[in-house]
Amino acid sequence: MNDQCLSCQNIETDLKLTGGYHPRCSRKLFGTARPPKVPFSTPDIAGEAQKMVGRMSISGIQPKLSLIHDRKSHQLTVIERGGSYILKPQTERFESLPENENLCMCSASVYGIAVPSHALIPLSDGKLAYLVKRFDRLEDGTKLQQEDFQQLLQTNDKYDGSYEKIANVIKKYSNVPGLDLVELFERALLNYVLGNGDAHLKNFSLIKEESIGYHLSPVYDLVNSRLVLPEEREEMCLSLQGKKNRFSRKNFIKLAEHFGLTNKQSANSLLHLHDITPAIEKMIEESFLNERLKDRFLEIYRKRLKRIFR
Ligand SMILES: Nc1ncnc2c1ncn2[C@@H]1O[C@H](COP(=O)(O)OP(=O)(O)OP(=O)(O)O)[C@@H](O)[C@H]1O
Ligand SMILES: [Mg+2]
Ligand SMILES: [Zn+2]
Repeated sequence: MNDQCLSCQNIETDLKLTGGYHPRCSRKLFGTARPPKVPFSTPDIAGEAQKMVGRMSISGIQPKLSLIHDRKSHQLTVIERGGSYILKPQTERFESLPENENLCMCSASVYGIAVPSHALIPLSDGKLAYLVKRFDRLEDGTKLQQEDFQQLLQTNDKYDGSYEKIANVIKKYSNVPGLDLVELFERALLNYVLGNGDAHLKNFSLIKEESIGYHLSPVYDLVNSRLVLPEEREEMCLSLQGKKNRFSRKNFIKLAEHFGLTNKQSANSLLHLHDITPAIEKMIEESFLNERLKDRFLEIYRKRLKRIFR
């Protein structure tokens, strides 16, 4: 392992990493300065995930496991219910999905979006998987109430929706609609520039926290799908101002108006997105993707930024 943190991706010159992580990054994700080991390999997961189908409380199409940190053995172990982490391994179909997802989450965090603790983690075969801390569980195991927007909009099709419809639900049910609408606007922008063409209704949720009430949950399932699916038909799978392709700055400004944001609010979000360009480009260049994928990621990102800021 080299000198690059598997969580924040920063390359260290003078700080020592422990087992591939900054002690502070490890503490944030695992509660310990030394990261736990994973006792299974990438091929083991297909079998484990198959056994879990229909029994695990997390859904979604990609194989994934629910894990807990067993402090005694200092390992992450598989658990059917009550897990505190979700692990998504490499897949045959899409190249470097874990590296892609970790990079997108780091980028979202730079933009100020609420992001759960996440990292890449080596499995026993040395391959990297993506690991994320569950945000719907408190430390004592209490499960928070969470409802995704397919349920909230009562539709059978997770692609049958729009950012405007999500906003209408937020206006109706969120206890902090003002904050959530700005956040939703910024997520629409981010999904677009990061090439996330699979941000469907199940990839947005409202969560209930005692102190706040219902609000938009932290972000999840954020990946540059265009990178692994160049033939993807639409740039966004949920419509925005009636469109799914070739967005301009004007489309986003109109969307913000529909949300009821002030001109100043949308201008701020756009300006901030513009200002973090050098930071995001650096992140892409220093990510765990291979050189070919880094170049392609940069190309997608720059092309879309240009549509907004030309
Ligand atoms: N950090 C998290 N905390 C709590 N719940 C989460 C978290 N990440 C994901 N989930 C839940 O698990 C489900 C599956 O996760 P995710 O969307 O990342 O997987 P996926 O298989 O890639 O999904 P898709 O079917 O959209 O491709 C999500 O719909 C969400 O309800
Ligand atoms: Mg999903
Ligand atoms: Zn770090």
